[in-house]
Amino acid sequence: MRVTIYEVGPRDGLQNESAVVPVEVKREFVARLAEAGLTTIETTSFVHPKWVPQLADAGELLESLPRVPGVRYPVLVPNEKGLDRALDCASDHGGVTDIAIFGSATESFARRNLNRTVESQFEMFAPVVERALAHGVRVRAYVSMCFADPWEGPVAPAQVAGVGRRLLDLGCHELSLGDTIGVGTPRHVEDLLDAFAEAGVGPERLAVHFHDTYGQALANTLTALRRGITVVDSSAGGIGGCPYARSATGNLATEDLVWMLDGLGVETGVDVRSLAATSLWLAGILGRPSPSRVVQALARE
Ligand code: HMG
Ligand code: MG
Repeated sequence: MRVTIYEVGPRDGLQNESAVVPVEVKREFVARLAEAGLTTIETTSFVHPKWVPQLADAGELLESLPRVPGVRYPVLVPNEKGLDRALDCASDHGGVTDIAIFGSATESFARRNLNRTVESQFEMFAPVVERALAHGVRVRAYVSMCFADPWEGPVAPAQVAGVGRRLLDLGCHELSLGDTIGVGTPRHVEDLLDAFAEAGVGPERLAVHFHDTYGQALANTLTALRRGITVVDSSAGGIGGCPYARSATGNLATEDLVWMLDGLGVETGVDVRSLAATSLWLAGILGRPSPSRVVQALARE
């Protein structure tokens, strides 16, 4: 069995940092992730720079990034303006080949994160997906607040599956299930995957995106793997959070994920020690230790 790790450190990991990280550091971070063996690295976002000032340098980063053959560098794109900015990135530097749209399962988060209703988010995304596909760009979709929302409480699995199905039907090749605030448990994961199966969406079109707020991310991931999911999102060193979701902390740490997968004999192609060295380097720059248990343990070896 092989699992594809979809690394989100440079985007989900850094988007919540209040002090702007210099573009040279971001460039080195992405390059070191590729050196450690990661083959899908979500690099930045073409969202409104006022909403996420940390990633206002998206174009500059992409145009100066050394590309490694075989590595994909997806970027977040919410709307046509974001797509225009992404497509403007010079193709002689590799351009943009993969984007991700990001929808919400709940009204409260749709309003806070996208300034839209759940219904109107589809109108915003539809032309983005259509135009991206016409340019030969692959489109992933996220659905956020899959288990609960800080304003509305628990979210019904059928509601999430309904929104997710519509995002996929726009023409996206993959849907990533976001536990934005990290409250889900393995039982919730089972229920959600059952709801998707009932909506006609099997594990081959799904990825999982767990934040580790309550320490459940690894257990939830194992549950998803046992249900046939083979694409897992994580962030190097476990950095991150969403600036528009109260209480969201970092994603599942990539090192914790790789350690578990190595132990299970599942291939990832990622060198956990090289990755942990990168997370320690970045922690030094961000000025606080990595929350990843594996990074902390390897640092003591
Ligand atoms: P809006 O204010 O409704 O935008 O924001 P608008 O369409 O009304 O346009 C207003 C002005 O903004 C216009 O300029 C546009 O051109 C400009 P004006 O004509 O007034 O001069 N504008 C832009 N400029 C640059 N780039 C753009 C852009 N769009 C409009 N892309 C918008 C709507 C979606 C843009 C805003 O709400 C936004 O940027 N939201 C992003 C928030 C965000 O990045 N959140 C974090 C990522 S999601 C996440 O972390 C969850 C995830 O990890 C999964 C999980 O954990 O669940 C993915
Ligand atoms: Mg996230």
